[in-house]
Amino acid sequence: MQSVLDRETEIERCLLQFGHKLLDLIKRAKQAFRIVSGFDAQDFNCFFVCLFVMFTACELGVFDLLLESEGPLSSDAIAERLGASTNGMERLLDACVGLKLLGVEIKSEGAFYRNTELSSLYLTKSRGQTLCHLYKIPVLTHFAMKSEEEMIKFMQFLNAFWSICGKDVIAAFDLSPSFMIWEPMGGGVGGLAKECISLYPNSTVTIYDLPKIVQVAKEHFIPPEECRITFHEGDFFKDPVPEADLYILARVLHDWADDKCLQLLTKVHKSCKPGGGVLIVETLLNEDKTGPLEAQLFSVIMLVQTEGKERTPTEHSKLLTAAGFREIQVKKTGKFFDVVLGRK
Ligand SMILES: C[S@@+](CC[C@H](N)C(=O)[O-])C[C@H]1O[C@@H](n2cnc3c(N)ncnc32)[C@H](O)[C@@H]1O
Repeated sequence: MQSVLDRETEIERCLLQFGHKLLDLIKRAKQAFRIVSGFDAQDFNCFFVCLFVMFTACELGVFDLLLESEGPLSSDAIAERLGASTNGMERLLDACVGLKLLGVEIKSEGAFYRNTELSSLYLTKSRGQTLCHLYKIPVLTHFAMKSEEEMIKFMQFLNAFWSICGKDVIAAFDLSPSFMIWEPMGGGVGGLAKECISLYPNSTVTIYDLPKIVQVAKEHFIPPEECRITFHEGDFFKDPVPEADLYILARVLHDWADDKCLQLLTKVHKSCKPGGGVLIVETLLNEDKTGPLEAQLFSVIMLVQTEGKERTPTEHSKLLTAAGFREIQVKKTGKFFDVVLGRK
């Protein structure tokens, strides 16, 4: 069986035949992600996400439609003409913009997309040089966790982000001394919780997660002698949420559609102590969704893997306000994850 790297090398060799510029573009996206996330594309397959985005747009005929159209088109118009989902199309087009496969003009009516010279040249079927037929990209099937071993691997992958940028996230706002009891909802195996107690040694952190994740966290990630981190097993949609000063939702809302996010945030607001708050940690999209590339790519992954999406600061603020939170503050960390703080 071909290894990921063999396959990658083979893809790169084929791409080379079609144009150094395009190859450079994809290589740069791969390198950028490596620098930003610290992850090798072999682990995360960001390279495959880039290619997945490109080939999906190719196969749907996005580049052909834009080549034939007289001017730039809106996402809704493209979705309608190609018989595709409007929600999915917008994310796909934004990711193409991030990858510089499409250009975008932001007008008062919304975003209008157009081909770049390279995409008209290499990604249109009519020009006969299309890359589309070369490969069918496997869609991140390694994320489907089938065994405990796979789950541990996935959790190690999630955790590793926090050793790289956890401090920036937790230090983005001064969270002491008003917040003493912290509740990371869907806190996973505790990578961010460890950063919390390291930066705020007087805080106590209770990780709330599904029973099977809590079990894995206890067995493999948090040593029993670490008494400042405790666990609460539960389903945050069905079970009660314990009272706390600060709730942390890190990479949780991006798994869920707006109605579920609102349901969860409303529940958190009810349990939150007066004067307490909620800290949302996500990769924020620019307000006009023209970047950053990692948020655009993640939003495509969320489309394929979950019910959710990446959001803009305004979209997060609206959800928080609707749930009852106020004094909403947004901080871009300049790293992979940004933070939004709301108070009760
Ligand atoms: C993408 S992971 C993020 C984990 C952690 N916050 C981090 O950033 O490393 C989402 C987490 O939400 C948890 N989760 C999903 N549905 C849940 C539910 N209904 N109740 C509690 N936790 C849930 C998952 O088990 C998982 O640990």
